[in-house]
Amino acid sequence: MQSDKVINTVITSSVKKAAGFIRNGQLVGFPTETVYGLGANVYNEKAVRMIFRVKKRPADNPLIVHISDISQVAHLAKHISKSAETIIERFFPGPITIVLKKNEIISNFVSAGLDTIAVRMPDPEITQKFISMCDVPVAAPSANISGSPSPTTWRHVFNDLNGKISCILKGPKCSLGIESTVVDCTSDDPVVLRPGSISLDDLQELFPQKKIRIHSDPDKVRSPGVKYKHYSPDAKVMLIDSYEEIEGIIKFIKTEKIGFIGTTKIKGISIQQTVSSVEEYARQLFGFLRRCDHSGIKIIFCEKVEEKGIGLALMNRLQKAAEGEQDI
Ligand code: TXA
Ligand code: MG
Repeated sequence: MQSDKVINTVITSSVKKAAGFIRNGQLVGFPTETVYGLGANVYNEKAVRMIFRVKKRPADNPLIVHISDISQVAHLAKHISKSAETIIERFFPGPITIVLKKNEIISNFVSAGLDTIAVRMPDPEITQKFISMCDVPVAAPSANISGSPSPTTWRHVFNDLNGKISCILKGPKCSLGIESTVVDCTSDDPVVLRPGSISLDDLQELFPQKKIRIHSDPDKVRSPGVKYKHYSPDAKVMLIDSYEEIEGIIKFIKTEKIGFIGTTKIKGISIQQTVSSVEEYARQLFGFLRRCDHSGIKIIFCEKVEEKGIGLALMNRLQKAAEGEQDI
């Protein structure tokens, strides 16, 4: 079993070489504009099952299928709804995933037994070339082991999966840094299952006649990943309104054990990330959480942001980290 024995992980900048591994039924870590993915040939059930083993991902959490050409949607989905067509036309390629009724030829392992399929077309040229050279759509969750934040650089993938997967396609740092917006398009009324870079306002503007909402019925989890632990570092994450809130307290804590991410630059805290925009905050967050764990940080203070635009998705990830939840 690939996950049990140590294998040689090839690190390459060659899209052609990386795609060869997918065609041979192996797993490849690859860059996207959101986070790095852990890819397999969607039609190769053995390779798809390997993703779950390697990541230690619960079998009831479905995968997103990545495409390089819009015509591939028709192979994966039974029916393309009007709402899906509208989103595809406006936002593909981009950081958004649509959920559609699944075509039966797609393995139930990909969809974790659901009758739906999640589809996304990443934007970067390197990702499009890679998927296109795989000759097949690529099923891929985020390329992290359960318990660590999503990877936003190839080094994060290496740290989690070296020796466990066949290849890492070395690309740039992810330009957005948090995962795609997931939208249920199985009906003509789109419902947001996971907030992301494409904001509620962006979707509302696209569908002026409809009321865009976030799915929030805990008894009827439509995006299974949402019920699992998410995005958590080992340290305790605490959300604060501003640095002033903790200024008094940190004098009494050993400052070398504290991490801080926010807009203020603070004297005396060694691990800190000063950000100048919500976009930069999103881009840096997961890498910062990993850096804190690496340095043995015990408490990470994270400044809250306004829950609008990408701020909604960022707060969603921050709250999950603060609840001690882990990524899957
Ligand atoms: O930006 C992203 O979406 C990244 C990159 C690699 O594309 N991928 C990613 O995958 O974040 P993952 O597996 O970590 O998260 C996928 C989310 C999970 O919450 C999962 O439950 C949901 O999408 N999902 C997948 N298929 C679904 C389906 N058929 N119905 C509802 N939710 C689905
Ligand atoms: Mg994930």
